[in-house]
Amino acid sequence: MSTPETTVRDIALEQPAAIRIFEKFGIDYCCGGRKALAEACEERSLNVDAVLAAIADAEEVHQPASRDWATATLEDLCRHIVDKHHAFIRAELPRLLQLAQKVVSRHGESHPELGQIQCLVESTGEELLQHLNKEEVVLFPYIANLERNVANCGPQPLGCFGSVRNPICMMIAEHDAAGEAFSEIRKLSQDFTPPEGACPTYCGFYAALADFERDLHRHVHLENNVLFPRAIEMEESCG
Ligand SMILES: [Fe+2]
Ligand SMILES: [Fe+2]
Repeated sequence: MSTPETTVRDIALEQPAAIRIFEKFGIDYCCGGRKALAEACEERSLNVDAVLAAIADAEEVHQPASRDWATATLEDLCRHIVDKHHAFIRAELPRLLQLAQKVVSRHGESHPELGQIQCLVESTGEELLQHLNKEEVVLFPYIANLERNVANCGPQPLGCFGSVRNPICMMIAEHDAAGEAFSEIRKLSQDFTPPEGACPTYCGFYAALADFERDLHRHVHLENNVLFPRAIEMEESCG
């Protein structure tokens, strides 16, 4: 049972229905998930008991069964991350940049925060694309190989980086940077709320930013909180 002292990350892991509630309240459960729920609520001026009650309610409404990634093979989990979340970023980023361009050219003068948001989307987007490549070319194949070797009781694969912990640390730092950029975007956009009477492109841009952040959080949650700890545990188990 979750309490105000339980970390946001642990709640998201144990009660997946809580993820929708965190999204609704703008609580970061992936990069910022190491905080206790009470602290995360305080930062967003939320009542922790109300958030806990909303989580309990969400648990009661049965969520459609999602795959249990705590027991799936790591190779399947990596494939799912690439097919669902990496593909989403690659498809969505050009659209997001186009929308940003349009909105800044039309409303940038009266809304200077739009220019700041555009810069953040451009720099974070570029970093994210490089990040996806590192995972797909180096880390995920290494993890799949590690899993195969452990299954065959064979020796651990020798990565050029020593332990799997090293690239994982780098990936987590990059997740943190993307998470911080998005919490800045959230602040600049008043929680993705367009001004009254905003044009459809303005509204579409903010809605696309909110969708992008939601997917990024689900993606980083699967990596930071499920895939990476399982890969480290697997490497250690074959000592
Ligand atoms: Fe990823
Ligand atoms: Fe990642």
